[in-house]
Amino acid sequence: MSSVELVGVAKSWGESTALHGVNLAIHAASFCVFLGPSGCGKSTTLRIVAGLESATAGQVLIDGKDVTTLPPAQRGIAMVFQNYALFPHLSVAQNIGFGLSVRKVPAAESERRVKETADLLGLAALLERKPSQLSGGQQQRVALGRALVAQAKVCLMDEPLSNLDAQLRQEMRRELRELQRQLGLTVIYVTHDQAEAMSMADQVVLLSQGRIEQAGAPRELYARPATTFVARFIGTPPMNLVALEGGRIAGSDVATGVPAATLGVRPEAVRLAGAGEGFDAVVQSAEYLGADLVLRCSVGSESLLVRTEGQHQVAPGTAVRLAWQAADAHGFDAQGRRVH
Ligand SMILES: Nc1ncnc2c1ncn2[C@@H]1O[C@H](COP(=O)(O)OP(=O)(O)OP(=O)(O)O)[C@@H](O)[C@H]1O
Ligand SMILES: [Mg+2]
Repeated sequence: MSSVELVGVAKSWGESTALHGVNLAIHAASFCVFLGPSGCGKSTTLRIVAGLESATAGQVLIDGKDVTTLPPAQRGIAMVFQNYALFPHLSVAQNIGFGLSVRKVPAAESERRVKETADLLGLAALLERKPSQLSGGQQQRVALGRALVAQAKVCLMDEPLSNLDAQLRQEMRRELRELQRQLGLTVIYVTHDQAEAMSMADQVVLLSQGRIEQAGAPRELYARPATTFVARFIGTPPMNLVALEGGRIAGSDVATGVPAATLGVRPEAVRLAGAGEGFDAVVQSAEYLGADLVLRCSVGSESLLVRTEGQHQVAPGTAVRLAWQAADAHGFDAQGRRVH
């Protein structure tokens, strides 16, 4: 089992800086997800861990050992790329065993390991097929098999499921997570899909513009976002972020009791209240999602999303009262940092 540590890892290309001194510890046998919008530095960080890219500054440690200057082959890692990169003219068995033959592993051992890996991934009946004769999910598993057969303890995956349809993606997420637990792998997984990150990760590392905005368990990021960026990125619909003026919702006389520039409250924490509580708002629009009904309500110059039960029927223009528990209110300063 391996842990991965990044110490002050920075990366620049000429004038442009992709990573600013990233510090991060990833526990052995855990599932870590790098999450963030396009261009935030997810792939660059992964490629530096793999040794496919060199850091401008800082160190990479695997199992406590400094591997910063080691070539990829000596780091004990395996990598699965977004496009799988399978060899079209080789069979499934040859694709899985490719790395072993390159490393001159004896034929008998190689055959045994390919078979074990194929069994594990449910590919045993497909070993003689070519990649073009496989479904997207099966190709994905072959790519995974090629990484697993190497018996590397650290497995890096860059958006490995992005080519699959929604249902297959869901299935593969579950399979991947089970496999990771079963084999005790340390996985670093890149995605820009927050739902994927939340459902798979032990630790989510949310990046923005080459910096870590927040790293922690999915529940931590959801319950206590460190910044407005995290608040907006995690959760659907995202957290409401409402401008305050002297503690009141901007353009209204609704006092929130939150001493901050911006109030954050999750749509699922806002409820439709009775006449005696909360404050007045007007429904602007309603989005029906089956189990949920999401209302956009206006208060002063701000608007708030309210997530309520799908069986409710509320027409635009309806006057409602809204309320939430004090503990569900988050406060952020003008720079977007949590203060409350
Ligand atoms: N070889 C390179 N030369 C110059 N700039 C690069 C190079 N590779 C990446 N960058 C820049 O570094 C930044 C981070 O890129 P990176 O590929 O890590 O983003 P990402 O988070 O993986 O995005 P995506 O979700 O689109 O894959 C981007 O601004 C990108 O333009
Ligand atoms: Mg990328």
